[in-house]
Amino acid sequence: MKYSLKFITAMLLTIVFISCGNKQQNAGDVQSEQKIEKRHKTERKEKDNKNVLILSSSPRKGGNSDLLCDQFAKGAIDAGHQVEKIYLNDMKINFFTNDDYNDMTGLANGDDDANEIVGKMVSADVIVMATPVYFYAMCGQMKTMIDRTYERYNEISSKEFYYIITAADKDKETLQVTVEEFRGFLDCIPDPVERGIIYGTGVWEKGSIKDLPVMNEAYEMGKGV
Ligand SMILES: Cc1cc2nc3c(=O)[nH]c(=O)nc-3n(C[C@H](O)[C@H](O)[C@H](O)COP(=O)(O)O)c2cc1C
Repeated sequence: MKYSLKFITAMLLTIVFISCGNKQQNAGDVQSEQKIEKRHKTERKEKDNKNVLILSSSPRKGGNSDLLCDQFAKGAIDAGHQVEKIYLNDMKINFFTNDDYNDMTGLANGDDDANEIVGKMVSADVIVMATPVYFYAMCGQMKTMIDRTYERYNEISSKEFYYIITAADKDKETLQVTVEEFRGFLDCIPDPVERGIIYGTGVWEKGSIKDLPVMNEAYEMGKGV
């Protein structure tokens, strides 16, 4: 009798524990569904002439992601849109600092190019973010730029987003970590829409993307803006 009471108590505790775990899991599922819904919420009004801002972040100018940016730009220009490509590595973009926490002017960080770029992100209709994969993440130039949107990220509202990602790895699945990094940014800003992703996989050498069908894919995606 003593043992069977112990057994029943243990069983009851196990049931309570499992049901709590399920609740937590369900709350997590609902939260991530809400985030995805948020990213796709708004049906955009079609505009003939969109303001497209391309942020090319590889330190390798004319490298694989940069070439895909150019293809995307060509397509968007052919479709009649205004395109500006910013090559982040040519700009002065300081790390986010302790002083930036309490300064909502964006000026505490000193005299660099980040505020001007953030201003362009605020004005754009479409933002293309391109990165090489470094250690299965976005490169530092792109991450630093994202961090520097801190003062005005709430104004980067109702934009359409595209990501361009290049890697030596041939397996697209392994780039999902990098995709999720971009999605983390979108989860923090108002009313974004993720429109498309270009995966330039299996490319290590500078320019080796040139002969691959993904070049045309980037052009067509740009044209479809
Ligand atoms: C510092 C560094 C880290 C890298 N890490 C990865 C990696 O984790 N996975 C991968 O598939 N390729 C990795 N690569 C290869 C680049 O992603 C690849 O060469 C890509 O085509 C570079 O794009 P880019 O020409 O636009 O700079 C790395 C390259 C460098 C220089």
